Amino acid sequence: MAGKLYVKTFGCQMNEYDTDKIRAVLARSHGLAPVDDPEAADVLLLNTCSIREKAQEKVFSLLGRWKGWKAERPGLVIGVGGCVASQEGEALRERAPWVDLVFGPQTLHRLPQMLDAVRLTPQPVIDVSFPEIEKFDCLPEPRADGPTAYVSVMEGCSNACTYCIVPMTRGKAVSRPVADVVAEVTALTVQGVREVTLLGQNVDTYRGRDAQGGIADLGALLAEVARVPGVERLRYLTSHPQAMSRSLIARYAEIPQLVGHLHLPVQSGSDRVLKLMRRGYTAADYLEKVERLRAVRPGLTLSSDFIVGFPGESDADFQATLDLVDAVGFDVSFSFMFSARPGTPAATVPDDVPLEVKKARLAELQARLTASAQAIAHGLVGTTQRVLAERPARHDASELAGRSENNLVVNFPAPRDLLGRFVDVRITEARPHSLRGEPVRPTLRVAAVG
Ligand code: SAH
Ligand code: SF4
Ligand code: F3S
Repeated sequence: MAGKLYVKTFGCQMNEYDTDKIRAVLARSHGLAPVDDPEAADVLLLNTCSIREKAQEKVFSLLGRWKGWKAERPGLVIGVGGCVASQEGEALRERAPWVDLVFGPQTLHRLPQMLDAVRLTPQPVIDVSFPEIEKFDCLPEPRADGPTAYVSVMEGCSNACTYCIVPMTRGKAVSRPVADVVAEVTALTVQGVREVTLLGQNVDTYRGRDAQGGIADLGALLAEVARVPGVERLRYLTSHPQAMSRSLIARYAEIPQLVGHLHLPVQSGSDRVLKLMRRGYTAADYLEKVERLRAVRPGLTLSSDFIVGFPGESDADFQATLDLVDAVGFDVSFSFMFSARPGTPAATVPDDVPLEVKKARLAELQARLTASAQAIAHGLVGTTQRVLAERPARHDASELAGRSENNLVVNFPAPRDLLGRFVDVRITEARPHSLRGEPVRPTLRVAAVG
């Protein structure tokens, strides 16, 4: 039976990747067509995130809104997937009994059978198991959507940061074989993809089977992916400082497509807090890795994630974080107030930093990070950046938007036929969330590429 599917996605890039796969799986099995309007859909799905309490609460408030629709629209199916589903399982239906389907990040490929079952019986269907890597073997051929693509190369995380719920929601780290990743990238480049981002919660701990029966690390995987014709730019996300090895750093000298930008979450600049978080490195270790990276790749920019108000964080600890920000000079970064997550070790100790203090620290850190990112953006004015034209600009149809190598959004006037191509853009202005520029001799560039 054909019908319409609405999926709302929360959380990280791995969830975005999974949402694409959910759409593809249900298009293949049930001919469901994706829609942007939930009121027009026959199947409503939420792909959820539980990293912080707020993310989780958003899910329940949206489910509350959908509850009334069930009575008005017979046959409407409501499903919840992703990390909240995985964490809550059966318990999710205690809070939201009108949910028909509960599936985890590793069982989304079973959605067709689950949907059939729920349409046959009024019973809810719940499957949040972790059947290892089965998911990737059951997915349809990847479909490119523009010149950039995400490719998940692993699932889960085997670290044990004391604040984090991910190991519980996604399970232990499991890596896809190199050949699978290469096949997916090849299928995407054939469809015009030029920039690939390899995804994993802790992607620098990747250990996948290679063609010789050995084990490839992330550096080896990047080298293989870089050999795929058409891969002109390579990113990976998210890496853990502890796993940022010498051999991975050395790849920056060997793989020209690897971008000069790295997201390397530090969380805190205080050794005491880092230890309480069980991150496995000190601020000095982090700075040393940054130095080594910049020695191999001069001009490399870094972005990061931070948590303020971790239990026990003192003013001095927070000051150490600010000092680290000054020492590194981060580009656009993310910072969060600590949120106690059920079942994590950090939730068993008193959440003792007062909310007002947490808020003040967050504001101060964000101001410092914004200033740092702005300084980098202003420093780019007058330079020429290689931009991959990804889409029409949001505010002006005569312009295109894309990203520079260091991951900043650049808007520039250019004809639509440059979409999907690399364009050299001279940066003329740094705005708060994007850069503006002018293409450098666009006609010559087209002739050279085309
Ligand atoms: N795997 C990545 C990121 C995981 S989640 C890593 O290890 O760096 C993305 C970010 O959310 C984290 O980097 C952290 O800054 C934040 N985060 C995770 N758990 C949190 C919690 N309980 N409270 C507040 N922020 C949290
Ligand atoms: Fe969570 Fe730590 Fe794993 Fe990142 S490395 S996903 S913060 S447990
Ligand atoms: Fe959120 Fe799960 Fe990603 S908790 S950040 S959606 S791995």
